[in-house]
Amino acid sequence: MGWLALVLSLGGCAGPQSTLDPHGPAALEITRLWWVTLGLGTAVFILVMGFLLGALFRRRPGPAETTPAPSRVPATSFQATIVTGGIIMPVAILTGLLILSLLSMRAIANLANAGTANPTVIEIIGHQWWWEVRYPAGQATTANEIHLPVGEPVTLRLSSADVIHSFWVPELHGKLDLVPNQTNTLVLQADQPGEYRGQCAEFCGLQHANMALTVVAQTPDEFAAWLAAQAQSAAAPASDLASAGQQIFLQSDCADCHTIRGTGAEGRRGPDLTHLASRATLAAATRPNTPEHLAQWVSDPQEIKPGSLMPQPELSAGDLEALVAYLEGLK
Ligand code: CUA
Repeated sequence: MGWLALVLSLGGCAGPQSTLDPHGPAALEITRLWWVTLGLGTAVFILVMGFLLGALFRRRPGPAETTPAPSRVPATSFQATIVTGGIIMPVAILTGLLILSLLSMRAIANLANAGTANPTVIEIIGHQWWWEVRYPAGQATTANEIHLPVGEPVTLRLSSADVIHSFWVPELHGKLDLVPNQTNTLVLQADQPGEYRGQCAEFCGLQHANMALTVVAQTPDEFAAWLAAQAQSAAAPASDLASAGQQIFLQSDCADCHTIRGTGAEGRRGPDLTHLASRATLAAATRPNTPEHLAQWVSDPQEIKPGSLMPQPELSAGDLEALVAYLEGLK
């Protein structure tokens, strides 16, 4: 069982959401501190186990030797060992770790200060159970996928629409809560282009485990092009089937909860779908964004995310096909 636990926990060290694979300055600080803590903890553990084994296997005086023998350890040496091992060493190690922690915190705070002068501000609003992502400067809104320019600090303003969530992209930074009626600021920087998976890290209800997100770090040019595309209104339906799907969307409950910019749909309770088809995943990174998964999600959200606030629409097979054709065209 111990081995299984070890293998399972080490398995978490690889993959797209590893704290031990930093891709930004803040995550690097945290990872370094983690390794130092692990190293010191391991050294202390080995030392203590060594003393314990030494005590266990120390030869005891046999009955023949019970006549008062001089103590093998002089009292002063014994006291020195207790003072050194029990007081001086723990205080020294814990003080050292405290200083290292403070230095890491200062380095991360300096990074945050650098970010306040930076133009890229992204608002992240936590919802049960998805992430709203707004770019105030670019007039764009998306969900569950945060694009940012690589190599520069980006300011995230975190808040919540309902309960407390926690924003955590381990390869880029530590955790920070999203609290209702409060804005917390996190400065994120990705050093290499790539995709970094994130996860809600505060239990927030039934689908907490399925509240994931992806950070896509792009070159500044790619990011600017992406943002400009996201700011545009939705594409017009490209086929008769998609046109029919648009009508179904606008006349059904869908439009009460979702916005598709450029149409009459202006609901704010669910994710903005203006460029839904440009996103890689559905339902907060629960499924890949393919027509099959989209049809499954739309026709029965409770199957994929039980407890999801998305109601089950009454749709015929033909209506569903048209709706999916329309949504898949929202590049
Ligand atoms: Cu949101 Cu857990």
